[in-house]
Amino acid sequence: MKEELLHLFPEGAAVNAKGHLEIAGCDTVALAGEYGTPLYVLDESHIRNKCRQYVSEFTGRFADTRVAYASKACLNKAVARVIREEGLELDVVSGGELAIALSAGFPAARVYFHGNNKSPEEMRYAFENGVGYIVADNLMELELLQQLAVEFGYSPEVLIRVTPGVEAHTHQHITTGYTGSKFGLPLGDAAGAIKKARKLVNLKLVGLHCHLGSQINETRPYEEALGVLIDFSREVYDKEGFELKKLSIGGGFGVNYTLQDRALPVSVYADTIINTLTSACNRAGLSTPGLIIEPGRSIIGPAGVTLYRVGMIKEIQGLIKYVTVDGGMADNIRPALYDASYAAVAAGKMYEPASEKVTIAGKYCESGDILVKDVSLASVTMGDIVAIPVTGAYCLPMASNYNGAPKPAVVMVNCGGSRVICRREEYSDLVRLDVG
Ligand code: LLP
Repeated sequence: MKEELLHLFPEGAAVNAKGHLEIAGCDTVALAGEYGTPLYVLDESHIRNKCRQYVSEFTGRFADTRVAYASKACLNKAVARVIREEGLELDVVSGGELAIALSAGFPAARVYFHGNNKSPEEMRYAFENGVGYIVADNLMELELLQQLAVEFGYSPEVLIRVTPGVEAHTHQHITTGYTGSKFGLPLGDAAGAIKKARKLVNLKLVGLHCHLGSQINETRPYEEALGVLIDFSREVYDKEGFELKKLSIGGGFGVNYTLQDRALPVSVYADTIINTLTSACNRAGLSTPGLIIEPGRSIIGPAGVTLYRVGMIKEIQGLIKYVTVDGGMADNIRPALYDASYAAVAAGKMYEPASEKVTIAGKYCESGDILVKDVSLASVTMGDIVAIPVTGAYCLPMASNYNGAPKPAVVMVNCGGSRVICRREEYSDLVRLDVG
């Protein structure tokens, strides 16, 4: 195994005397034996340290920055508690995510409610529970917010989501800041929305929100978007007298999935975003608004590892060697959906040379169910454990029961200890909602 591969695993990853991969002091082969496979493993310290890093890098440069964890990346009660304890805020996009957060005792006042089609029921649920902020996507939503503000006698702070017309170089399915996106309003329409929101006297409009896309490994889109948004805010200030008090630049900070990726350190994003914001505001003669950032993937992605057990191995002579594992697209849809690349190691053979080029295939009935193409791996046999790093984000929340697959368990590891935070589904769970 290449030594550098360990850098893709959570911070405390190591190889023990048996040649097994260890995460947070836990032997991954033993974890697979104890809890079964496929198994999602989350390193608690890694999540906490990332939260702290975001807070210190951003607030150290600009005190009025709030870090809201984008819960769509991965949310369950244990993760919500960690985020709460670290003092972050939370971005949710549905009544369901809000319900998970509330069930973990996450304070609603620290929640941002996003979404391009929040239903009246979801909005009511948010108001009933005292959600602190709403990110309004469109004009119809503003009307609904006004009605609810009257009905409930209070208004959360409202930010209007805009598309600054900036393209982020990432997968087409996860870019969102371009004009014509289904999310938010182009600036022309946003000016009208601000005008309208200011007439709706019960609304507490405080600012703008934009999110450019995800897995962005460059700073340029953030710089461009901030420039555009501050110029726009100056125009709106001149025309409408609206003063921008809060600005969310969204999330999207990239991570290294493989040794070929070149993710940027948090400090580089913090430097660029804060310098660009403050200098653009100075130039425009505006006071610098409070900044909100919404990292998801970069907080929890690299904290996660998925463990699989090897099953059938098939070599098609001269063409390809498939190592099939007991999971696949039902627990990680990202390779099939976005052509996402991952690394992999044989968790019990870390000292053995990666002597074979194989393709790690899943067990589901789709040719696209391939987890990792052409990866160098130690020679494995049935029963060996394969570990895929950087699977903490957008794997479990996008998991399905395709082909009757029970969803894997999630285990949190910390300082040599492990505990189940989401139990594995059983066959009975597959019919628990059936009433016929
Ligand atoms: N804020 C908003 C408004 C968002 O829509 C998102 C992600 C985030 C923050 C967090 O972005 P992050 O820091 O995690 O990149 N399923 C895709 C990713 C979809 C991201 C959707 N929005 C994937 O697996 O790559």
